[in-house]
Amino acid sequence: MEKFYITTPIYYVNDKPHIGSAYTTIAADVLARFYRGQGADTFFLAGTAEHGSKIAQSAEKAGKEPKVFADEMSAKFSLAWDILNISNNDFIRTTEERHTEAVKLFFEKLKQSGKIYEGEYEGLYCVGHEAFIKESELVNGLCPEHKTKPEVVKEKNWFFKLSEYGEILTKKIQSGEFIILPEERRNEVLSFISQGLEDITISRQNAKFALPLPWDENQTIYVWLDELFNYCSAIGYGANDEKFKKYWPADLHLVGKDIIKFHCVIWPALLLAIGEQIPKKVFAHGFFTVDGQKISKTLGNVIDPVEWANKYGVDAVRYFLLREVAFGEDGDVSEEKLRTRYEGELANGLGNLVSRLTTLIEKFLEGKVTIDTSIFPNDEGAGEAIENFRFHEALSIIWQWVQWCNKTVDENKLWELGKTDIKKFEQLANQLSSALFFIAQTLKPLLPETSEKILKIITAPKITKAEPLFPRIE
Ligand code: MSP
Repeated sequence: MEKFYITTPIYYVNDKPHIGSAYTTIAADVLARFYRGQGADTFFLAGTAEHGSKIAQSAEKAGKEPKVFADEMSAKFSLAWDILNISNNDFIRTTEERHTEAVKLFFEKLKQSGKIYEGEYEGLYCVGHEAFIKESELVNGLCPEHKTKPEVVKEKNWFFKLSEYGEILTKKIQSGEFIILPEERRNEVLSFISQGLEDITISRQNAKFALPLPWDENQTIYVWLDELFNYCSAIGYGANDEKFKKYWPADLHLVGKDIIKFHCVIWPALLLAIGEQIPKKVFAHGFFTVDGQKISKTLGNVIDPVEWANKYGVDAVRYFLLREVAFGEDGDVSEEKLRTRYEGELANGLGNLVSRLTTLIEKFLEGKVTIDTSIFPNDEGAGEAIENFRFHEALSIIWQWVQWCNKTVDENKLWELGKTDIKKFEQLANQLSSALFFIAQTLKPLLPETSEKILKIITAPKITKAEPLFPRIE
């Protein structure tokens, strides 16, 4: 692969990052680091979505101007990604001029496409979703997810002829030109399309804190279209043709399963309308619950990934989220579960291995070992697992090696062998150090900090007893 353009959703700044947004972003980071490591010209984009009523309302609640509020919240996201060791190449904000200018161009192109028309829309708008919601979806008159009453909207809008795109999208999905993963999500999209696509509104009548529609001053751009276009604006659409040509189309949009219709139906149709290539692949992962319950502010179970990182370390958070749930499936997380894995697999597993081995090497070999990288010529399928989005499996493969190493130390009673048979001890210590080197190499995209620490420890000219990688938590 020559280039690899990967994106995360751009998150709404109505609230600070939580474990769900961190999850998508960490997974994207693993892939970006992996392909970068393979030599692909990788561009990894993250960012924040800052327009719309949802943000205007949150800003009002906080007693702040929307833009001031958005600035503060967006900074929390970029800081959180720094703390979680996310290697994004850029961070796009929809309030930036480079984005708003590109969106203007995009809408002019749409207008010229002949695929839009003026009409009247009547419907129920859920601000939490930033989307229209069907009456049949309501529970006791409320949006079942946001527990709020949708706004009754009857207004003049501009429409996009999405209804014309069902056949071509189906063809592209079936031929593999447009890949949707996992299979279940692909089937969901195909079945949604087969029920017949309806045209969608692309503007609203003066929604709060939204971009103006270039040709109609009484209309504002529907936030979702503004947001989707970030994937193009960030790589220079209309401003830096060379960069845009180099990276577009996106190789992979990573999203949660909640937003697949936007990414797998509306987005490619819009791109086709303006004559641009469509993304190559969308992968939609599952949703987390916390202690079996939906994550919600009302329930007060929102987990702050930065708090976890401060308490347990960045790589513990990365390890836990990637290991606990198979990517693509729904799963449950909790601090209890994190602790169990922390103690068992990180502190007593990998951490213990590194401290024992380095202590023994310092004691019996004056800190000298020979690492032979040819003993482990390949990564035993860990790389292939990453390429196939099976991060939990990659970690499980690596941890089999960790276990093998710890078992080798125990079964050979290395702490005694050092006194009784130094030749055999040295041979095993070399082998174990080589295994640890291999473990650290394979861990690079998954747990970059730990990988770097181990490589530094194990390749030092004189190995000394290492500080615990995963200290005991009180
Ligand atoms: N602004 C839109 C995305 C626009 S992309 C062009 C948006 N933002 S959001 O802040 O609501 O983020 C939604 C995303 O957050 C989901 O697609 C998913 O990636 C992540 N998650 C939010 N809650 C989650 C869980 N409970 N579990 C896992 N991921 C979750 O939608």
